[in-house]
Amino acid sequence: INTQLQNGTDGGPAEVHQTVAAGADALTTSQGVKISDNQNSLKAGVQGPTLLEDFVLRDKIFHFDHERIPERVVHARGFGAHGTFECTRDLSQITRAAPFQKVGKLTETFVRFSTVAGSKGSMDLARDVRGFAVKFYTDEGNWDLVGNNIPVFFIQDAMKFPDLVHAVKPEPDRGFPQAQSAHDTFWDYISLTPESMHMVMWQMSDRTIPRSFRTMEGFGVHTFRLVNAAGESQFVKFHWKPRQGLQSVLWDEAVKINGADPDHHRRDLWEALTTGDHPQWDLCLQVFDQAFADSFDFDILDATKLIPEELIPAEPVGTLTLDRAVDNFFEFTEQVAFCTQNVIPGIDFSDDPLLQGRNFSYLDTQLKRLGSTNFTQLEVNRPRGCPMHNFQQDGHMRKGNRKGQVMYEPNGFEVGPREDPLQGYVSYAAPVEGAKVRIRAESFADHYSQARQFYLSQTPVEQTHLRDALVFELSKCEHTRIRAAMVGHLRNIDEDLASGVASGLGLPELPPPATAARPTRQDLVL
Ligand code: HEM
Repeated sequence: INTQLQNGTDGGPAEVHQTVAAGADALTTSQGVKISDNQNSLKAGVQGPTLLEDFVLRDKIFHFDHERIPERVVHARGFGAHGTFECTRDLSQITRAAPFQKVGKLTETFVRFSTVAGSKGSMDLARDVRGFAVKFYTDEGNWDLVGNNIPVFFIQDAMKFPDLVHAVKPEPDRGFPQAQSAHDTFWDYISLTPESMHMVMWQMSDRTIPRSFRTMEGFGVHTFRLVNAAGESQFVKFHWKPRQGLQSVLWDEAVKINGADPDHHRRDLWEALTTGDHPQWDLCLQVFDQAFADSFDFDILDATKLIPEELIPAEPVGTLTLDRAVDNFFEFTEQVAFCTQNVIPGIDFSDDPLLQGRNFSYLDTQLKRLGSTNFTQLEVNRPRGCPMHNFQQDGHMRKGNRKGQVMYEPNGFEVGPREDPLQGYVSYAAPVEGAKVRIRAESFADHYSQARQFYLSQTPVEQTHLRDALVFELSKCEHTRIRAAMVGHLRNIDEDLASGVASGLGLPELPPPATAARPTRQDLVL
């Protein structure tokens, strides 16, 4: 490259032009035409108007004008990394899923950590749930484990998700606050959603202000199924346990860090990846059968409940190592498309109504966000561990259509791929029966027991943090009825916690306990 300075009228340089040296690449338009001057538009006369015929300028600005794509409707702010999953336990007896067939088996992965509520440009250390989404490029297709750093969720049914998110996101009239929890609409919705109480305990704990992405756990949340080669199935919960340990910051630290370095978490991971300090997580499974599911106090299909590890230990089966930073944020981190319905032979869904709704939502939103059904052709989304062959064709931005005359099957020309009855994905034949109803099962109706269990499992210091977080967040509510309603729920969880929060909020008297623990009449209308 040759750098040339053109003299200005005051003796200093007026313009910088960098021109191509022998053997180097020349700058071109998107049509491949070499550009002679990348600093000046084409004008009619030196001081005249710019000409419409300046295709070099128009090509450059046209592309720039369309650089932004919609941010994710939730989990907009995230940070991705490449990694490898190594199997440490042969699970071939209970699942035919490719990553678990042999000890030592390596599977390429891509991981994206995220906050939920804030926009793409928000700060990293908001008090918020963190996304922990893992794409496994397996020998039998892509498997996405799209989890969070909290083992339960706010709601039991996908029907509620848009309302939850509208309540969580900045209030539409004023466009703030960005923080997930510190506002009236969020707490108003939560106070009317008793099933969210367990998640709220986790959310107000130190878990939602992690020190680093590297010091968080991850959870698949829902109950899934494992299916073996004989077609036998067991239930499973997925957990990621960080080898770096579990660490959080204090709220005061979070506030300071956000002010000084809103990119704290992404910088931390970038530095770890680029200096060879590769973070690791053990994938641990809780595996159980129908008999346990029937005997468990709660419904295993209820995403607001966890299965205590005292009842079923989480056994390590493999290790994830993040070992490579992405070399292009937009290409990988922004365009990656995780989807709960991306499963492989050996992994199947349960009837969890939240999971079933998610299975629809991700693909739907990604068509809008990425603009084309062909996003599966992008490097970050295509199956990398196995071939992809089908008769899909055309669509926006399609590249590499199959060649030839025949784009269908069955065909008598004997060309193209065919079904594989032996190796192909077969859904587990779970028996289904019942009337078509819009009703919640009675087994989903206890919203406080596990919330209490979580609160009581915390150390005194952690309990104080949790109480202080509730006081801080609820004190941001302008409507005192919302504060009172929340204390009413807390009374069903722990009286000391409720009275501590009530006095922190300066409530004149303790509100009565909430009585909405069971489904309302409206829930029961067929
Ligand atoms: C992202 C929907 C519940 C974890 C998203 C996105 C949507 C969505 C539309 C944006 C996806 C994109 O633009 O690529 C839903 C619905 C839910 C639900 C409808 C409930 C009915 C959950 C739950 C979890 C979760 C329970 C955790 C277990 C995530 C994660 C991402 C995400 C980690 C970010 C993925 C990424 O990094 O690209 N969700 N979600 N979601 N969701 Fe959910």
